Amino acid sequence: MSKSSSSFTCTACGATHKKWQGRCDACGAWNSIVEEAPLSAGPKSLGHKGRAIQLTDLATEEDPPPRASSGIDELDRVLGGGLVPASAILVGGDPGIGKSTLLLQAAASFARTGLKVLYISGEEAAAQVRMRAQRLGLQDAPVGLGAETNLRDILTTLDAERPALAIIDSIQTMWLDTVEAAPGSVSQVRAAAHELVTFAKKRGVAVVLVGHVTKEGQIAGPRVVEHMVDTVLYFEGERGHQFRILRAVKNRFGPADEIGVFEMTGNGLAQVTNPSALFLSDRDRPAPGSAVFAGIEGTRPVLTEIQALVAPSTLGTPRRTVVGLDSGRLSTILAVLEARCGIPFTGLDVFLNVAGGLRVNEPAADLAVAGALLSAREDVAIPPDMVLFGEISLSGALRPVGQTENRLKEASKLGFQQATLPTGSKTVGGTDMRLRQMPDLTAFVGEMFGA
Ligand code: TYD
Ligand code: MG
Repeated sequence: MSKSSSSFTCTACGATHKKWQGRCDACGAWNSIVEEAPLSAGPKSLGHKGRAIQLTDLATEEDPPPRASSGIDELDRVLGGGLVPASAILVGGDPGIGKSTLLLQAAASFARTGLKVLYISGEEAAAQVRMRAQRLGLQDAPVGLGAETNLRDILTTLDAERPALAIIDSIQTMWLDTVEAAPGSVSQVRAAAHELVTFAKKRGVAVVLVGHVTKEGQIAGPRVVEHMVDTVLYFEGERGHQFRILRAVKNRFGPADEIGVFEMTGNGLAQVTNPSALFLSDRDRPAPGSAVFAGIEGTRPVLTEIQALVAPSTLGTPRRTVVGLDSGRLSTILAVLEARCGIPFTGLDVFLNVAGGLRVNEPAADLAVAGALLSAREDVAIPPDMVLFGEISLSGALRPVGQTENRLKEASKLGFQQATLPTGSKTVGGTDMRLRQMPDLTAFVGEMFGA
Protein backbone atom coordinates (compact mmCIF):
# COMPACT_ATOMS: atom_id res chain seq x y z
CA MET A 1 0.00 0.00 0.00
CA SER A 2 1.56 3.27 -0.99
CA LYS A 3 2.10 5.74 1.78
CA SER A 4 0.73 8.63 -0.24
CA SER A 5 -2.74 7.09 -0.28
CA SER A 6 -3.17 7.18 3.51
CA SER A 7 -5.14 10.00 5.02
CA PHE A 8 -5.10 11.98 8.23
CA THR A 9 -8.28 11.66 10.23
CA CYS A 10 -9.48 13.45 13.34
CA THR A 11 -10.37 10.90 16.01
CA ALA A 12 -12.72 13.34 17.68
CA CYS A 13 -14.97 14.28 14.76
CA GLY A 14 -13.87 12.07 11.87
CA ALA A 15 -12.86 14.93 9.53
CA THR A 16 -10.09 14.03 7.08
CA HIS A 17 -7.15 16.28 6.30
CA LYS A 18 -4.49 16.26 3.57
CA LYS A 19 -1.61 16.44 6.04
CA TRP A 20 -1.01 16.11 9.73
CA GLN A 21 -1.70 19.17 11.84
CA GLY A 22 -1.81 19.84 15.56
CA ARG A 23 -5.37 21.09 15.67
CA CYS A 24 -8.40 19.90 13.73
CA ASP A 25 -9.94 22.78 11.73
CA ALA A 26 -13.31 21.06 11.74
CA CYS A 27 -13.89 20.59 15.46
CA GLY A 28 -11.05 22.48 17.12
CA ALA A 29 -9.65 19.46 19.00
CA TRP A 30 -5.90 19.37 19.67
CA ASN A 31 -3.67 16.34 19.02
CA SER A 32 -6.60 14.37 17.68
CA ILE A 33 -5.35 13.78 14.14
CA VAL A 34 -3.83 10.41 13.26
CA GLU A 35 -2.60 8.86 10.05
CA GLU A 36 -4.82 6.10 8.77
CA ALA A 37 -4.53 3.64 5.95
CA PRO A 38 -7.35 4.00 3.41
CA LEU A 39 -10.29 1.61 3.61
CA SER A 40 -9.45 -1.54 1.67
CA ALA A 41 -11.89 -2.38 -1.06
CA GLY A 42 -12.87 -5.66 0.59
CA PRO A 43 -14.28 -8.63 -1.29
CA LYS A 44 -15.86 -7.66 -4.57
CA SER A 45 -19.55 -8.38 -4.85
CA LEU A 46 -21.37 -8.78 -8.13
CA GLY A 47 -24.06 -6.35 -7.14
CA HIS A 48 -27.75 -7.03 -6.91
CA LYS A 49 -30.52 -5.39 -8.79
CA GLY A 50 -32.44 -3.10 -6.49
CA ARG A 51 -36.18 -2.69 -6.49
CA ALA A 52 -37.96 0.62 -6.06
CA ILE A 53 -41.00 0.68 -3.83
CA GLN A 54 -43.82 3.12 -4.37
CA LEU A 55 -44.50 5.36 -1.43
CA THR A 56 -48.21 4.79 -1.94
CA ASP A 57 -47.72 1.03 -1.63
CA LEU A 58 -46.15 1.50 1.75
CA ALA A 59 -49.02 3.62 2.97
CA THR A 60 -51.40 0.71 2.61
CA GLU A 61 -49.36 -1.42 4.98
CA GLU A 62 -50.13 -1.67 8.64
CA ASP A 63 -49.04 1.12 10.93
CA PRO A 64 -45.44 0.76 12.14
CA PRO A 65 -45.09 -1.62 15.07
CA PRO A 66 -45.57 0.18 18.36
CA ARG A 67 -42.52 1.37 20.26
CA ALA A 68 -41.29 -0.91 22.98
CA SER A 69 -41.33 0.58 26.43
CA SER A 70 -38.32 -0.18 28.61
CA GLY A 71 -40.27 0.26 31.80
CA ILE A 72 -37.77 3.01 32.70
CA ASP A 73 -39.72 6.23 32.09
CA GLU A 74 -36.68 8.50 32.04
CA LEU A 75 -35.16 6.36 29.27
CA ASP A 76 -38.37 6.00 27.28
CA ARG A 77 -38.90 9.75 27.20
CA VAL A 78 -35.39 10.43 25.89
CA LEU A 79 -35.93 7.82 23.18
CA GLY A 80 -39.02 9.77 22.11
CA GLY A 81 -41.54 7.44 23.74
CA GLY A 82 -39.84 4.05 23.73
CA LEU A 83 -37.58 1.95 21.54
CA VAL A 84 -38.31 2.04 17.80
CA PRO A 85 -37.84 -1.41 16.24
CA ALA A 86 -34.85 -1.72 13.87
CA SER A 87 -33.43 1.62 14.92
CA ALA A 88 -29.78 2.39 15.63
CA ILE A 89 -28.96 4.30 18.79
CA LEU A 90 -25.62 5.68 19.90
CA VAL A 91 -25.03 6.21 23.62
CA GLY A 92 -21.93 8.32 24.19
CA GLY A 93 -20.31 9.50 27.38
CA ASP A 94 -17.09 9.81 29.35
CA PRO A 95 -15.50 6.58 30.57
CA GLY A 96 -16.83 5.65 34.00
CA ILE A 97 -19.94 7.83 33.76
CA GLY A 98 -22.22 4.78 33.92
CA LYS A 99 -23.04 3.79 30.33
CA SER A 100 -22.59 0.07 30.90
CA THR A 101 -24.63 0.27 34.09
CA LEU A 102 -27.46 2.12 32.35
CA LEU A 103 -27.54 -0.25 29.41
CA LEU A 104 -27.40 -3.40 31.50
CA GLN A 105 -30.33 -2.07 33.53
CA ALA A 106 -32.14 -1.15 30.31
CA ALA A 107 -31.38 -4.59 28.82
CA ALA A 108 -32.82 -6.31 31.88
CA SER A 109 -35.83 -4.04 31.92
CA PHE A 110 -36.59 -4.60 28.22
CA ALA A 111 -36.06 -8.34 28.64
CA ARG A 112 -38.56 -8.45 31.49
CA THR A 113 -41.20 -6.95 29.22
CA GLY A 114 -40.73 -9.96 26.94
CA LEU A 115 -38.28 -8.51 24.41
CA LYS A 116 -35.39 -10.73 23.34
CA VAL A 117 -32.22 -8.83 24.29
CA LEU A 118 -28.53 -9.57 23.67
CA TYR A 119 -25.88 -7.62 25.55
CA ILE A 120 -22.47 -7.96 23.94
CA SER A 121 -19.50 -6.67 25.84
CA GLY A 122 -16.16 -6.11 24.19
CA GLU A 123 -14.69 -4.64 27.34
CA GLU A 124 -15.59 -7.07 30.08
CA ALA A 125 -15.72 -10.84 30.32
CA ALA A 126 -19.16 -12.42 30.59
CA ALA A 127 -18.41 -13.25 34.23
CA GLN A 128 -17.71 -9.60 34.97
CA VAL A 129 -20.94 -8.52 33.33
CA ARG A 130 -22.71 -11.11 35.43
CA MET A 131 -21.08 -9.75 38.57
CA ARG A 132 -22.32 -6.30 37.71
CA ALA A 133 -25.79 -7.71 37.08
CA GLN A 134 -25.66 -9.31 40.51
CA ARG A 135 -24.73 -6.01 42.11
CA LEU A 136 -27.66 -4.41 40.33
CA GLY A 137 -30.00 -7.20 41.46
CA LEU A 138 -30.57 -8.25 37.85
CA GLN A 139 -28.96 -11.68 37.82
CA ASP A 140 -32.30 -13.35 37.04
CA ALA A 141 -33.18 -11.15 34.07
CA PRO A 142 -33.47 -13.15 30.84
CA VAL A 143 -30.73 -11.24 28.98
CA GLY A 144 -28.40 -13.03 26.57
CA LEU A 145 -24.77 -12.19 27.32
CA GLY A 146 -21.78 -12.29 25.02
CA ALA A 147 -18.17 -11.24 25.36
CA GLU A 148 -16.82 -10.77 21.86
CA THR A 149 -15.04 -8.18 19.75
CA ASN A 150 -14.92 -9.82 16.33
CA LEU A 151 -17.78 -8.23 14.49
CA ARG A 152 -18.08 -11.04 11.95
CA ASP A 153 -18.80 -13.48 14.81
CA ILE A 154 -21.19 -11.03 16.43
CA LEU A 155 -23.19 -10.55 13.24
CA THR A 156 -23.39 -14.32 12.75
CA THR A 157 -24.67 -14.70 16.30
CA LEU A 158 -27.20 -11.90 15.87
CA ASP A 159 -28.38 -13.42 12.61
CA ALA A 160 -28.93 -16.77 14.28
CA GLU A 161 -30.49 -15.42 17.46
CA ARG A 162 -32.52 -12.57 15.94
CA PRO A 163 -32.99 -10.57 19.15
CA ALA A 164 -35.23 -7.51 19.12
CA LEU A 165 -32.46 -5.49 20.71
CA ALA A 166 -28.68 -5.87 20.66
CA ILE A 167 -26.40 -3.76 22.83
CA ILE A 168 -22.80 -3.39 21.69
CA ASP A 169 -20.55 -2.17 24.51
CA SER A 170 -18.46 -0.52 23.14
CA ILE A 171 -18.15 0.25 19.43
CA GLN A 172 -14.48 1.16 19.96
CA THR A 173 -13.60 -2.42 20.87
CA MET A 174 -15.17 -3.96 17.76
CA TRP A 175 -13.09 -4.91 14.73
CA LEU A 176 -13.65 -6.20 11.24
CA ASP A 177 -11.06 -8.44 9.59
CA THR A 178 -11.58 -6.69 6.26
CA VAL A 179 -10.31 -3.39 7.63
CA GLU A 180 -6.56 -3.04 7.99
CA ALA A 181 -6.50 -0.81 11.02
CA ALA A 182 -6.32 -1.25 14.75
CA PRO A 183 -9.55 -1.58 16.80
CA GLY A 184 -10.59 1.87 17.96
CA SER A 185 -9.23 3.64 14.89
CA VAL A 186 -11.57 5.86 12.92
CA SER A 187 -11.78 3.40 10.03
CA GLN A 188 -12.53 0.40 12.26
CA VAL A 189 -15.11 2.24 14.34
CA ARG A 190 -16.82 3.60 11.25
CA ALA A 191 -16.79 0.29 9.41
CA ALA A 192 -18.06 -1.60 12.46
CA ALA A 193 -20.83 0.92 13.05
CA HIS A 194 -21.78 0.81 9.38
CA GLU A 195 -22.06 -3.00 9.44
CA LEU A 196 -24.17 -2.94 12.60
CA VAL A 197 -26.49 -0.18 11.42
CA THR A 198 -27.00 -1.87 8.05
CA PHE A 199 -27.71 -5.13 9.84
CA ALA A 200 -30.22 -3.40 12.12
CA LYS A 201 -32.20 -2.02 9.20
CA LYS A 202 -32.10 -5.23 7.15
CA ARG A 203 -32.90 -7.71 9.88
CA GLY A 204 -35.17 -5.61 12.04
CA VAL A 205 -32.90 -5.68 15.09
CA ALA A 206 -32.59 -2.51 17.14
CA VAL A 207 -28.95 -1.87 18.02
CA VAL A 208 -27.47 0.31 20.72
CA LEU A 209 -23.84 1.29 20.22
CA VAL A 210 -21.95 2.47 23.27
CA GLY A 211 -19.18 4.98 22.57
CA HIS A 212 -16.62 6.39 24.96
CA VAL A 213 -15.87 10.05 24.63
CA THR A 214 -12.12 10.19 24.17
CA LYS A 215 -10.15 13.21 25.23
CA GLU A 216 -7.36 12.86 22.69
CA GLY A 217 -5.08 10.33 21.07
CA GLN A 218 -5.54 7.26 18.97
CA ILE A 219 -9.07 6.15 19.80
CA ALA A 220 -11.96 7.45 17.71
CA GLY A 221 -14.75 9.16 19.62
CA PRO A 222 -18.49 8.60 19.24
CA ARG A 223 -18.88 11.69 17.06
CA VAL A 224 -17.45 9.84 14.08
CA VAL A 225 -20.54 7.61 13.94
CA GLU A 226 -23.20 10.15 14.90
CA HIS A 227 -24.33 10.64 11.30
CA MET A 228 -24.92 6.91 10.77
CA VAL A 229 -27.42 6.32 13.54
CA ASP A 230 -31.04 7.38 14.07
CA THR A 231 -30.69 8.56 17.63
CA VAL A 232 -27.74 10.03 19.50
CA LEU A 233 -27.86 10.12 23.29
CA TYR A 234 -25.15 11.44 25.57
CA PHE A 235 -24.83 10.39 29.17
CA GLU A 236 -23.43 13.32 31.14
CA GLY A 237 -22.66 14.26 34.68
CA GLU A 238 -20.27 16.32 36.72
CA ARG A 239 -17.61 14.52 38.69
CA GLY A 240 -18.49 14.74 42.36
CA HIS A 241 -22.22 14.83 41.62
CA GLN A 242 -24.27 11.70 41.71
CA PHE A 243 -26.72 12.98 39.06
CA ARG A 244 -26.49 11.66 35.54
CA ILE A 245 -28.30 13.21 32.62
CA LEU A 246 -29.17 11.27 29.50
CA ARG A 247 -29.63 13.82 26.73
CA ALA A 248 -30.94 13.29 23.20
CA VAL A 249 -28.88 15.42 20.82
CA LYS A 250 -30.33 13.88 17.65
CA ASN A 251 -33.46 11.83 17.26
CA ARG A 252 -35.14 10.79 14.03
CA PHE A 253 -38.04 9.44 16.04
CA GLY A 254 -38.62 12.06 18.69
CA PRO A 255 -37.73 15.49 19.98
CA ALA A 256 -34.06 16.29 20.39
CA ASP A 257 -32.95 18.02 23.59
CA GLU A 258 -35.06 15.75 25.75
CA ILE A 259 -33.38 14.74 28.99
CA GLY A 260 -33.71 11.89 31.43
CA VAL A 261 -32.34 12.33 34.93
CA PHE A 262 -30.78 9.55 36.97
CA GLU A 263 -28.92 9.24 40.20
CA MET A 264 -25.98 6.85 40.63
CA THR A 265 -26.49 4.82 43.78
CA GLY A 266 -24.71 1.90 45.40
CA ASN A 267 -26.87 -0.47 43.42
CA GLY A 268 -27.17 1.15 40.06
CA LEU A 269 -28.94 4.08 38.49
CA ALA A 270 -32.19 5.28 40.00
CA GLN A 271 -34.64 7.47 38.11
CA VAL A 272 -35.16 11.02 39.27
CA THR A 273 -38.74 11.82 38.38
CA ASN A 274 -38.81 15.31 39.84
CA PRO A 275 -35.54 16.90 38.71
CA SER A 276 -36.54 20.45 39.73
CA ALA A 277 -36.63 19.47 43.38
CA LEU A 278 -33.23 17.85 42.93
CA PHE A 279 -31.50 20.78 41.26
CA LEU A 280 -32.84 23.17 43.87
CA SER A 281 -32.20 20.92 46.83
CA ASP A 282 -29.21 22.71 48.33
CA ARG A 283 -30.75 26.18 48.56
CA ASP A 284 -32.57 26.86 51.81
CA ARG A 285 -32.04 30.57 52.50
CA PRO A 286 -31.69 33.65 50.29
CA ALA A 287 -28.15 34.25 49.11
CA PRO A 288 -26.76 37.01 46.90
CA GLY A 289 -25.69 35.69 43.51
CA SER A 290 -28.40 33.08 43.19
CA ALA A 291 -31.34 33.14 40.77
CA VAL A 292 -33.80 30.38 39.96
CA PHE A 293 -34.40 29.85 36.27
CA ALA A 294 -37.65 28.27 35.13
CA GLY A 295 -36.43 26.36 32.11
CA ILE A 296 -37.71 23.78 29.65
CA GLU A 297 -35.65 20.70 28.87
CA GLY A 298 -37.14 18.95 25.89
CA THR A 299 -40.81 18.63 26.72
CA ARG A 300 -40.47 19.06 30.46
CA PRO A 301 -40.11 22.12 32.67
CA VAL A 302 -37.07 22.01 34.94
CA LEU A 303 -36.13 24.62 37.51
CA THR A 304 -32.44 25.23 38.03
CA GLU A 305 -30.43 27.54 40.19
CA ILE A 306 -27.97 29.87 38.46
CA GLN A 307 -25.16 30.96 40.77
CA ALA A 308 -22.80 33.87 40.23
CA LEU A 309 -19.80 35.16 42.12
CA VAL A 310 -18.32 38.56 41.33
CA ALA A 311 -15.09 39.63 43.01
CA PRO A 312 -12.36 42.23 42.44
CA SER A 313 -9.72 40.83 40.11
CA THR A 314 -5.98 40.92 40.52
CA LEU A 315 -5.49 39.97 36.88
CA GLY A 316 -5.00 42.28 33.91
CA THR A 317 -7.74 40.39 32.10
CA PRO A 318 -10.36 39.44 34.68
CA ARG A 319 -11.54 35.86 34.85
CA ARG A 320 -14.74 34.70 33.19
CA THR A 321 -15.41 31.15 34.38
CA VAL A 322 -18.61 29.39 33.33
CA VAL A 323 -19.89 25.91 34.19
CA GLY A 324 -23.08 24.61 32.60
CA LEU A 325 -23.74 27.57 30.30
CA ASP A 326 -22.32 28.93 27.07
CA SER A 327 -19.45 31.31 27.81
CA GLY A 328 -20.29 33.40 24.73
CA ARG A 329 -23.72 34.02 26.20
CA LEU A 330 -22.15 35.30 29.42
CA SER A 331 -19.97 37.75 27.49
CA THR A 332 -23.01 39.04 25.62
CA ILE A 333 -25.03 39.57 28.79
CA LEU A 334 -22.11 41.35 30.48
CA ALA A 335 -21.75 43.61 27.43
CA VAL A 336 -25.48 44.44 27.39
CA LEU A 337 -25.43 45.21 31.13
CA GLU A 338 -22.55 47.59 30.58
CA ALA A 339 -23.74 49.25 27.36
CA ARG A 340 -27.49 49.48 28.07
CA CYS A 341 -27.66 49.76 31.85
CA GLY A 342 -24.30 51.39 32.60
CA ILE A 343 -23.23 48.57 34.93
CA PRO A 344 -19.63 47.62 34.12
CA PHE A 345 -17.88 44.44 35.18
CA THR A 346 -14.40 45.70 34.31
CA GLY A 347 -11.80 44.76 36.90
CA LEU A 348 -14.12 42.10 38.32
CA ASP A 349 -13.72 38.32 38.14
CA VAL A 350 -16.98 36.62 37.21
CA PHE A 351 -17.80 33.01 38.01
CA LEU A 352 -21.06 31.54 36.78
CA ASN A 353 -22.39 28.11 37.56
CA VAL A 354 -25.52 26.03 37.06
CA ALA A 355 -26.10 24.15 40.31
CA GLY A 356 -26.36 20.38 40.25
CA GLY A 357 -24.31 19.77 37.12
CA LEU A 358 -27.05 20.49 34.57
CA ARG A 359 -26.22 22.18 31.26
CA VAL A 360 -28.59 24.94 30.23
CA ASN A 361 -28.77 25.81 26.53
CA GLU A 362 -31.91 27.95 26.37
CA PRO A 363 -31.67 31.68 25.60
CA ALA A 364 -34.56 31.99 28.05
CA ALA A 365 -31.95 31.65 30.81
CA ASP A 366 -30.57 35.13 29.99
CA LEU A 367 -32.67 37.00 32.54
CA ALA A 368 -31.82 34.59 35.36
CA VAL A 369 -28.13 34.89 34.43
CA ALA A 370 -28.35 38.70 34.49
CA GLY A 371 -30.24 38.47 37.79
CA ALA A 372 -27.57 36.26 39.37
CA LEU A 373 -24.76 38.53 38.09
CA LEU A 374 -26.41 41.71 39.37
CA SER A 375 -27.37 40.11 42.65
CA ALA A 376 -23.75 39.04 43.18
CA ARG A 377 -22.33 42.40 42.13
CA GLU A 378 -24.74 44.46 44.26
CA ASP A 379 -24.73 41.93 47.12
CA VAL A 380 -28.52 41.96 47.17
CA ALA A 381 -30.37 38.65 47.32
CA ILE A 382 -33.20 37.92 44.90
CA PRO A 383 -36.33 36.87 46.84
CA PRO A 384 -36.01 33.10 47.36
CA ASP A 385 -39.58 32.50 46.19
CA MET A 386 -38.97 34.05 42.75
CA VAL A 387 -38.23 32.44 39.39
CA LEU A 388 -36.93 34.34 36.37
CA PHE A 389 -36.89 33.72 32.65
CA GLY A 390 -36.67 35.70 29.42
CA GLU A 391 -34.31 36.33 26.55
CA ILE A 392 -32.18 39.48 26.51
CA SER A 393 -31.70 41.15 23.14
CA LEU A 394 -28.64 43.23 22.27
CA SER A 395 -30.74 46.38 22.66
CA GLY A 396 -31.40 45.45 26.28
CA ALA A 397 -35.05 44.61 25.60
CA LEU A 398 -36.57 41.48 27.14
CA ARG A 399 -38.10 39.07 24.67
CA PRO A 400 -40.88 36.65 25.61
CA VAL A 401 -40.01 32.96 25.34
CA GLY A 402 -42.08 29.85 24.65
CA GLN A 403 -44.03 27.75 27.13
CA THR A 404 -44.53 30.52 29.69
CA GLU A 405 -47.43 28.66 31.24
CA ASN A 406 -45.52 25.40 31.70
CA ARG A 407 -42.71 27.26 33.38
CA LEU A 408 -45.06 29.04 35.77
CA LYS A 409 -46.98 25.87 36.52
CA GLU A 410 -43.82 24.02 37.51
CA ALA A 411 -42.62 26.93 39.65
CA SER A 412 -45.98 27.19 41.38
CA LYS A 413 -45.98 23.43 42.00
CA LEU A 414 -42.66 23.77 43.79
CA GLY A 415 -43.87 26.56 46.03
CA PHE A 416 -42.54 29.63 44.20
CA GLN A 417 -44.80 32.65 44.57
CA GLN A 418 -43.46 35.24 42.13
CA ALA A 419 -42.00 35.34 38.66
CA THR A 420 -40.08 37.95 36.71
CA LEU A 421 -40.62 37.65 32.98
CA PRO A 422 -40.72 39.73 29.79
CA THR A 423 -43.64 42.04 29.05
CA GLY A 424 -45.86 40.46 26.44
CA SER A 425 -45.38 36.88 27.65
CA LYS A 426 -48.36 34.72 26.84
CA THR A 427 -49.94 33.99 30.20
CA VAL A 428 -53.53 32.90 30.00
CA GLY A 429 -54.06 33.52 33.67
CA GLY A 430 -54.94 30.69 36.00
CA THR A 431 -51.76 31.12 37.99
CA ASP A 432 -51.83 32.47 41.52
CA MET A 433 -48.22 33.64 41.26
CA ARG A 434 -47.33 37.28 41.39
CA LEU A 435 -46.05 38.18 37.92
CA ARG A 436 -43.62 41.03 37.37
CA GLN A 437 -43.51 41.72 33.66
CA MET A 438 -40.55 43.82 32.52
CA PRO A 439 -40.06 45.47 29.11
CA ASP A 440 -36.29 45.67 29.32
CA LEU A 441 -33.20 45.12 31.40
CA THR A 442 -33.11 48.72 32.66
CA ALA A 443 -36.58 48.35 34.20
CA PHE A 444 -35.49 45.03 35.73
CA VAL A 445 -32.37 46.59 37.28
CA GLY A 446 -34.42 49.52 38.62
CA GLU A 447 -37.07 47.34 40.20
CA MET A 448 -34.84 44.62 41.62
CA PHE A 449 -31.75 46.50 42.63
CA GLY A 450 -32.92 50.08 42.83
CA ALA A 451 -30.17 51.23 40.47
P1 TYD B 1 -19.84 2.06 34.22
O1 TYD B 1 -21.25 1.73 33.90
O2 TYD B 1 -18.86 0.96 34.20
O3 TYD B 1 -19.31 3.26 33.32
P2 TYD B 1 -18.98 3.30 31.75
O4 TYD B 1 -19.53 2.09 31.13
O5 TYD B 1 -19.61 4.56 31.27
O6 TYD B 1 -17.48 3.38 31.65
O7 TYD B 1 -19.89 2.77 35.67
C1 TYD B 1 -18.75 2.93 36.36
C2 TYD B 1 -18.95 3.68 37.64
O8 TYD B 1 -20.20 3.56 38.25
C3 TYD B 1 -17.96 3.15 38.62
O9 TYD B 1 -17.19 4.26 39.04
C4 TYD B 1 -18.74 2.55 39.71
C5 TYD B 1 -20.07 3.20 39.61
N1 TYD B 1 -21.17 2.33 40.01
C6 TYD B 1 -21.92 2.67 41.11
O10 TYD B 1 -21.69 3.68 41.78
N2 TYD B 1 -22.98 1.87 41.47
C7 TYD B 1 -23.28 0.74 40.78
O11 TYD B 1 -24.23 0.04 41.14
C8 TYD B 1 -22.46 0.39 39.67
C9 TYD B 1 -22.74 -0.85 38.86
C10 TYD B 1 -21.43 1.22 39.29
MG1 MG C 1 -18.49 0.48 30.25
